[in-house]
Amino acid sequence: MIIERDLHGRVALVTGGARRLGRELVLALAAAGADVVIHYRFSGHEAVDLADRVRQQGREVWLASADLGSDSGVTELLRALHAGPGRLDILVNNVGNYPLGPLTDADAAQFRSLLETNLIAPDSLIRGSLSLFPERGGHVINLGYAGLESSRVQANAVHYQVTKTGLLLLTRAWAAELAHRGIRVNMISPGQLENSVDLPADPARAIPLGRPGRLGEVAEVLLFLLGEDSYLTGINIDVAGGWRV
Ligand SMILES: NC(=O)c1ccc[n+]([C@@H]2O[C@H](COP(=O)([O-])OP(=O)(O)OC[C@H]3O[C@@H](n4cnc5c(N)ncnc54)[C@H](OP(=O)(O)O)[C@@H]3O)[C@@H](O)[C@H]2O)c1
Repeated sequence: MIIERDLHGRVALVTGGARRLGRELVLALAAAGADVVIHYRFSGHEAVDLADRVRQQGREVWLASADLGSDSGVTELLRALHAGPGRLDILVNNVGNYPLGPLTDADAAQFRSLLETNLIAPDSLIRGSLSLFPERGGHVINLGYAGLESSRVQANAVHYQVTKTGLLLLTRAWAAELAHRGIRVNMISPGQLENSVDLPADPARAIPLGRPGRLGEVAEVLLFLLGEDSYLTGINIDVAGGWRV
């Protein structure tokens, strides 16, 4: 890690934290000293393995399983936060489903479910966890996608784009709303990562910097944003090697 951040004494929640990008973010937060709540839905084994690894780093860890596709799942996760650490300093809204297919193949139920996981759950988690944040300070990080601010239609992922565009607006709105409490609310928008499900056939040509992003490069930006007295709020950072500029 290039960024040195001391998060000892802080509690962080990463939604969808058991695998892939979420896992990397959990490991970076723990390495910086934070105690971590790993939220997962189906990846219980991966979550338990990751929790062991975090404990080996000397950090405290809590596991919380919930389906964020419904209000009751959000309530369940909030209950687990109260029963577990009883406080929260860093909320990372990482869950963000990315179903691919033309609009004609989707239906209202799928769209509604995507709105729930990608947009409504992050918003509800912010609102619902406010009482767990310290009187002053704290961070919320939402995940977007690169190029979000000048989106052109990606025909096979329009509903995803709609949810993340909404999340960008919510990021800014919550940033303004919570600034008086010193809670910073920002967004990180990855481009093509090494584990992307739809990597271009020739990343060296398609991505200006010539390669997909490493998961650790997203984690670096996360740590960068977590300054205690940071002047950054309501911003969105593409981590994308020039993808979609
Ligand atoms: N990877 C990329 O290249 C890329 C690029 C641009 C943006 N992003 C954004 O970065 C974030 C992470 O990406 P990713 O590819 O690592 O995500 P992912 O693998 O698609 O999903 C992360 C986790 O979300 C959880 N999840 C899905 N539906 C859920 C539900 N209904 N309730 C609770 N949890 C649920 C799953 O947990 P379980 O496994 O425990 O079920 C899954 O492991 C997303 O917001 C994505 O939009 C990623």
